[in-house]
Amino acid sequence: MSHEKADLPTKDAIRLIGRVEELREELRRHEHLYYVLDAPEITDAEYDALMRELRELEAKHPELVTPDSPTQRVGGKPKDGFVKVAHSRPMLSLDNAYNEEELREWDRRVCTALGSDAVEYICELKLDGLSLALTYENGQLVRGVTRGDGAIGEDVTTNVRTIRSIPLSIAPGTLHNAGLEGSPEPGTFEVRGEVVMPFAAFQKLNDEREAQGLAPAVNPRNAAAGTLRTLEPNIVAQRGLVFYAYFVLVNGETFFDKQYMTLFALKKTGFRVNEHLKIVHGINEVLQLIANAESLRATLPYEIDGVVIKVNFVAQQQRLGFTGRAPRWAIAYKFTAKSGITQVNAITVQVGRTGKLTPVAELVPVFIGGTTVSRATLHNAEEIARLGLEIGDFVVVERGGDVIPKVVEVVRERRPADTKSFTFPTHCPECGSVVVRVEGEVDTRCVNANCPARLREALLHFAARGVMNIEGLGEAVVTQLLERKLVQSIADIYTLDEARLLTLNLVKEKKAQSLLEEIARSEQAPLDRVLLGLGIRFVGARTAELLADTFLTMDALIAASREDLERVSEVGPRVSSAIREFFDEPANLALIERLRAAGLNFTTTVKEKSEKLTGMSFVLTGTLPTLTREEARERIERAGGRVIGSVSKKTSYVVAGDEAGSKLEKAHALGVPILDEAALLALL
Ligand code: IVH
Repeated sequence: MSHEKADLPTKDAIRLIGRVEELREELRRHEHLYYVLDAPEITDAEYDALMRELRELEAKHPELVTPDSPTQRVGGKPKDGFVKVAHSRPMLSLDNAYNEEELREWDRRVCTALGSDAVEYICELKLDGLSLALTYENGQLVRGVTRGDGAIGEDVTTNVRTIRSIPLSIAPGTLHNAGLEGSPEPGTFEVRGEVVMPFAAFQKLNDEREAQGLAPAVNPRNAAAGTLRTLEPNIVAQRGLVFYAYFVLVNGETFFDKQYMTLFALKKTGFRVNEHLKIVHGINEVLQLIANAESLRATLPYEIDGVVIKVNFVAQQQRLGFTGRAPRWAIAYKFTAKSGITQVNAITVQVGRTGKLTPVAELVPVFIGGTTVSRATLHNAEEIARLGLEIGDFVVVERGGDVIPKVVEVVRERRPADTKSFTFPTHCPECGSVVVRVEGEVDTRCVNANCPARLREALLHFAARGVMNIEGLGEAVVTQLLERKLVQSIADIYTLDEARLLTLNLVKEKKAQSLLEEIARSEQAPLDRVLLGLGIRFVGARTAELLADTFLTMDALIAASREDLERVSEVGPRVSSAIREFFDEPANLALIERLRAAGLNFTTTVKEKSEKLTGMSFVLTGTLPTLTREEARERIERAGGRVIGSVSKKTSYVVAGDEAGSKLEKAHALGVPILDEAALLALL
């Protein structure tokens, strides 16, 4: 049988091509309306119908598929990771000003160099994402490259193509018509800008990560960076990244003669340009704008970390030129709330329950936002490289709400002469086993399943609040139990007696008594807590609960195949294989048998659920008078509601107790209704 396309009469072929082109035009127009202008004209369903029609036609006639067709955003995978490419011109960073004085100083230098007393500046928001360079050749997007070290970045084209606010093609002459009547349309040009992950997308990602028992992403910028480096364009397409354009380069030079013109032309060409921009004259107007930007910040659906001030006229920019690493014609004014500058004494490495190695900056103590901070997480080796951090450096440390303090940047200007670079250990600092870094992942792990650090973390996790709730079994006691080899497995907790506990120097009779009571009480903990306590990879509180509700007994769960497991909502292939792997390990089965012998709860009773709060989301903050956070969460979830980590406009209620912090402020700012414990109980 011959192919349908070979038999197609010419007239039909023309009609078909016409329809395909028409669909593409329509889809591009609607993508632009939706993703760039935020002003959709049709419903999602109508959009999907157009897309479906185009997909079907293209599937029947693959010869008609073009790379810029809206169906082609998700293409093949970047097989061997990302290729490094040199930038046409270095992607420089900006100098920072942290206060009015530094900003005035910069303005004085600009004024002096230009012989003017009120320079025309253009102010843009400093979007907290990562910068990206896009190359268009003959109107087609051919390449997307991350900033990398500024000189060399990574080719992330396959991922960039999935970002819907980035046009895959630009009609001939558009850029030129948008701003430069008369000059020739450039064959090749580069658009630079910032990729951000809006709060809503960030929240969704973290909800998913929580459901999978993964640590939440630290902030939207990290999440955006991680996403762009994912080797699965499919995943990138779902993460809701947005690109804001701010530069156009042709042959490495600025194309338009004013920065304002650049932004205007980019917008006309179909790029998303941040709408909060303003031309001002002189530094006082800049300071006024910054004051307004600080309050604007609370209302934006994405994170900004300051304001970028650029000299508007390119001719003046050229007269000012560059220092080694940044233009003299622009500066970033950074918001400084809740941050401080201090020195890094040392970098230590912690080993977590899953064997993950986390580098930690040991700091000269610094007072930030009401508390003294002496340690800050550095997340992983890549983050240290990104920061360019060396031991002895001065760094900006930030803490927000209940977030762990983190190092956000190195103050290069203050680098002492004797800093030392940090080499990530090749062996576990606790047990000396080799560590491995799985390809495509940023984390480094200790491979030794019996690593004492892992055991310590496993014990602390098992005993933690919200897990088995064994009060009193904290760091100090666990460390001593391990040192004296009184505990060599989780199950040994249940073999402890008063005599043994009293050999620890921290424990007196009273404490030993109450600890034993706590341990005895934990035997009654429901099955889902026991499952959670086992520390199976990707099995967080929610997944544990779903598993317990579905399989009802430990034995049924142990016997479940991957297919059985994946019938549970929210359990995918990754989680199911982690669970199987866990139960296939004889040492783990032995542990389970010992826990069974100790009398732990291996069955569950079906809980009554109501649907009163279905569809509502709650954020908990502060200390409630009678309920613990876990209890409040459980009550809300049992009534069908969801408890999420951070406040957005869509949050139904914020439940606030004593010493509620930034989440409460945010709820006020966004107009989210606030409940106290009594109001929550009434609602329940
Ligand atoms: S201009 C040489 N404009 O801030 C000019 N940068 O601290 C550098 N950024 O690497 C870029 N919003 O990732 C510019 N409106 C904006 C920006 C912006 C965010 C980022 C960008 C840059 C970093 C410099």
